Amino acid sequence: MALAIKRIGILTSGGDCAGLNAVIRAVYAHANGHFGWEVIGIHNGTAGLLARPVDARKLDDAVLSSDMLRQGGTILGTTNKGDPFAFPIDDGKRIDRSNEVIDGVRQLGLDALIGIGGDGSIAILRRLAIQGGLNFVAIPKTIDNDLGATETSIGFETAVQTATSALDHLQPTAASHSRVMVLEVMGRDAGHIALSAGIAGGADVILIPEIPYQFAAIEKKLAALRQSGRNFALVVVAEAVKTESGEAITSVHGGGAGAMQTYGGIGHYIGAELAKRSGAETRVTVLGHVQRGGTPEPKDRLLGSAFGVHAVDLIAAGKFDRMVAWNSRQVIDVPIQTAIQGAATVDPHGAMVKTARGLGISFGD
Ligand code: F6P
Repeated sequence: MALAIKRIGILTSGGDCAGLNAVIRAVYAHANGHFGWEVIGIHNGTAGLLARPVDARKLDDAVLSSDMLRQGGTILGTTNKGDPFAFPIDDGKRIDRSNEVIDGVRQLGLDALIGIGGDGSIAILRRLAIQGGLNFVAIPKTIDNDLGATETSIGFETAVQTATSALDHLQPTAASHSRVMVLEVMGRDAGHIALSAGIAGGADVILIPEIPYQFAAIEKKLAALRQSGRNFALVVVAEAVKTESGEAITSVHGGGAGAMQTYGGIGHYIGAELAKRSGAETRVTVLGHVQRGGTPEPKDRLLGSAFGVHAVDLIAAGKFDRMVAWNSRQVIDVPIQTAIQGAATVDPHGAMVKTARGLGISFGD
C-alpha cells in the first residue's frame, strides 16, 4: 500500500553535469504541484546531511523557472568525495560516518529521498538507505554514460555535443596548418564520449580504453590519409586510454586519505609520440571540465524532466530501491542493484564501433 507522503528530499551527488537543474525543477513541479508534498533540497550531497545543522532548504516555486532548464551545474551543489562509509579525516585515516548521514535524513523528517548520481554515488546512497531503512529512489546522471540498465544518463548528450563542437572547431585550423590534432575527452573508464563525438565530429582515429591500440596502426592510418591527399587528421582519445606499454596517466589532487586521483594527460603522450614517429606536426587539446558545464542540450533537459516526474511517481506508488532509466523511447524503472553492478563500458563489437569501422575510422588496432 502506498505511504502517506508529506515531505521528500532531493540531492545531487558526484560530479556535476548539464541537466541536473531540469531534474530538480521536474521533481518539485510534480511532487509539490501535483501531490502537494514539501520538497527539501539538500546541499552538497551527503556533505549537507553530515553538517549540523543539516545543510538544506525548502524548495519553493522559484525552481519552476524555465531558467532551470537552461542552467548548467546544480543549484543544490554536489560533492564527489567524502564517502560517509570511509570518510577521510586529518591524520590520513578513514572513519565510518554513515549513521550521521542517516540521522541527517531523520532530522529533516523526510518520508523519501531522491538521489541524482552516478554509479559510485548511487551505490553509497543505496547502502545508506538499506542501513537506515530509508525510502530511496535514484536518478542516473553522468557524462561518462557508464551506468548499467539505462541506455543513457543525464549529462552525456551535452558532453558529446561539447566534444563534437570542439572537433568542429579543430578541423578548420588543422586543415589550414596541415596538422594532426589530438583531442582528449573525459569519460572515466568508458570510451562513450570519445566514440560518439568522434563519429559525429568526423574523427579519423578514435582511441578508447576498451580497444587496445598500437602506434604502428595509427601511423598506417595517417599515412593512408596523406596518400589520399589529405593534409590533416583528427584524433580523439579518451582519458583512460593507457600508454602503449599499459600505464594509465593520472594526477593526484589533495593529500592524505582524501587524496583523489583522476585521469588526464594521455592526449599529450599520444600527440608527442605521433610527432616523433610520423614526423607529423601535432597539437593537443585537453577538453576537461568544459564537457561538464554549459547550457544543457534539449535531450538532457527532456531526460531530466522525464526522470524527475517518474521518480516522484515511484514514491507516490510506494516503490523504492529503484532507479529510473531510459529504454526504447520509454522511462522505466529498474532495481538499483542491476544498474550499479559493474560499469557499462563500450562494447567493442557493438553498433557504434561497427559504425565507426564502417566509416573507415581507425581504433589503432
Ligand atoms: O565522472 C565524471 C568525470 O567528469 C569523469 O569523466 C572524470 O574522469 C572525472 O569526473 C573528473 O573528476 P573531477 O571533477 O574530480 O576532476
